[in-house]
Amino acid sequence: MAVIRRGEIPRPPHGVDENQDLIYTQKGFFGDWVHVFRHHNLGVPASWSDDDLVWGGADTGLLAPTDLDKPSGEPLLLLEGDGVRVLVSRRSQVAPFAEKNADYHQIRFYHRGEFVIETELGPLTAGPGDFVVVGKGLIIRERPSTSDNFVLIFESAEEIVCAEAMWDSVGFTSFFVDYSDMGLPVPGRPSEAGQTDVRVWSEGRWHQLTYHFDPCTDVIGWMGDPVIYRLNVEDVPAPGTSRGFLPPPAHAVLMTESKSWFFNVLGVPPSPTQPAPLGSFGAPAHSNDYDEVWFNHASQFLPHNLGHMWLFPRTVPHPGFKRPPSHPPNPVTKYDEIKINFDTRAKLHWTPEAKEAFLEGDVRTNGFLSLNGVPPGGVAGRERGGT
Ligand SMILES: [Fe+2]
Repeated sequence: MAVIRRGEIPRPPHGVDENQDLIYTQKGFFGDWVHVFRHHNLGVPASWSDDDLVWGGADTGLLAPTDLDKPSGEPLLLLEGDGVRVLVSRRSQVAPFAEKNADYHQIRFYHRGEFVIETELGPLTAGPGDFVVVGKGLIIRERPSTSDNFVLIFESAEEIVCAEAMWDSVGFTSFFVDYSDMGLPVPGRPSEAGQTDVRVWSEGRWHQLTYHFDPCTDVIGWMGDPVIYRLNVEDVPAPGTSRGFLPPPAHAVLMTESKSWFFNVLGVPPSPTQPAPLGSFGAPAHSNDYDEVWFNHASQFLPHNLGHMWLFPRTVPHPGFKRPPSHPPNPVTKYDEIKINFDTRAKLHWTPEAKEAFLEGDVRTNGFLSLNGVPPGGVAGRERGGT
């Protein structure tokens, strides 16, 4: 379809000036779109009839799943929707059973802690910044070697694929995601452990299978596709342009074939080389029919925001944080800044337990300071004629 324009276009869409941008997209980020130039930010309403209509954030570090101090405990559900769940586990001791999830594939994001994950295909290690994909129905058992642990679990009823598949239609782009550094379970020497219980999540509740052996320690070999594997946030550079921000699917690492969700790792993108009004830094306000989850994994500049999780619902545009670009001083240094982002067609709802950890104060101020690290006056309040 041809891209058309009407009215005043004050500058290129990648630039920034006294006007606000709003990007409206359909089918998540995969359908028709329009880039709107306007006077105000639609992501910042004056009031709302229900808190679930607007963005909300929680300090997940305040949450205490029952697996924090009970070996037989379980993760805590934070968000749920059709075919998607987000949970947190803080397991500090190995469980007296192995686990099998018959309802969901998983991305297990290791925010804190060191683990050996025993699996049906052999052991795999995991530490901070690792994320492990576990195919639906595979048996695992986490053995933590640290006590202060934090694992964010994204569950999907649909199969998980590498987001490289998204770029096939345009040819080789790579975006430098290093899937070749994928960690795979390697069978070790089988051990003859005795009777083993397997806790099974099926049709929305726990069940149990019992074997006369340990299914995670008797494997001697396997061949086939990667159905359980580990990647790390450092395998995913943050792509950028000389003029402006690349929207979320450019940062996707994992997804479903139907694009019902995609999982992004966002490091610090390169600073644009063009000054305003041609260049800009950060996402503009945007609106679509997916819900969006954010998690602060690493932040050297805003360490008090580590572990903050945000849900940006489809009912209000995301206000963005587009602003004039600036350059970091030389010498070039590594920034330790990583956010995890999950965009999903599923309408997500916070659980009452997660709401117990909601950030206090004005959700708008919290949203800008916690997630974007900028005061709202620098972006949302940037009215026509302002700075
Ligand atoms: Fe967004």
